[in-house]
Amino acid sequence: MTDSFSGATKKGTMELPRTATGFDQLAHAIRARKPRYDGKISSEPRWESAFVRQEISHPVIKLQEFGYRAEELNRGYGVIDDTAVAGPTQLLTPEGVFRLKDVCDKLEAYAAGSEFIVTRRVRSADLMSPFINNMIRDRAFLLACSRMVGVPLIPHPLRTPTVQINYFEGRETGDREIAKWHRDGMDYVFTIQLNEGGEYEGGRFTYFKGRTDEFEGIGGDDPRIVEADCDALGATLFIHGSHLFHAVTPVTAGRRVTFVLSLFCPYFSRQDSNTFWHLAGDDGIPATIPNWLRLKWPTRNPAMDFSLRAGSPMISWEDLQ
Ligand SMILES: [Fe+2]
Repeated sequence: MTDSFSGATKKGTMELPRTATGFDQLAHAIRARKPRYDGKISSEPRWESAFVRQEISHPVIKLQEFGYRAEELNRGYGVIDDTAVAGPTQLLTPEGVFRLKDVCDKLEAYAAGSEFIVTRRVRSADLMSPFINNMIRDRAFLLACSRMVGVPLIPHPLRTPTVQINYFEGRETGDREIAKWHRDGMDYVFTIQLNEGGEYEGGRFTYFKGRTDEFEGIGGDDPRIVEADCDALGATLFIHGSHLFHAVTPVTAGRRVTFVLSLFCPYFSRQDSNTFWHLAGDDGIPATIPNWLRLKWPTRNPAMDFSLRAGSPMISWEDLQ
């Protein structure tokens, strides 16, 4: 709970503001086009596997603590896919964070605003930056991410906007800047903080510690609204994005940059939480129809098939041991 919620709490039990759904989401999908990029980016550092830290420990909160029953979650291969929140932790070395921050600062020239989500952002950053592309397809990096969650993870094979960089600039809090609550279309979402907490005010990552179907109608003073402590430069937080409502409070001063990576579990592809309209909202309807069919089509060797499509090294269950 922070001051930044005052927009919602002043009005007592008023529902928390949420991003567009239903007809608004359809309208957004019709307007959406695959992103264009002119290929001009200044020189950037080279990605190295050594930027991934070796010993990573972090707190974990299970989806059962949010009220989900094991039967409702992805199960198979001897595991329950039940990690709700993991971290914050340092996934990259200080040098890795420094390089990533440098790359994201350079990409800001391509950031665009949006009425749909409150922030300036670069989408599909992995298509713009060799550093980011190599980072998210690096075996050491994917293994570290997979181990945080407990399931094998690779870039999404069908969805291009895997990496989004958000640029929040401090400004007076008005209606447009109220934190918009949402859940993600993607299941496995990692956020890497690229500023020290002292460089900005507001910008708190908050989530609702309850089931998504309990979120309807709750007020800003609900005790289940909790904040993740992501103040440290490089702090990496995993959330099961489709299973928990979350929001970032407005940045009221300074500058906050976050690197947001969405990954995919090839073993649970048919349960992937991307809805058709989530994908269409980003890529447009024509591009989504063939991708959708390919996502839902049965595959005999999911790790192999989806890794090949994603241009990713294979990560299997055995790799997580
Ligand atoms: Fe999100």
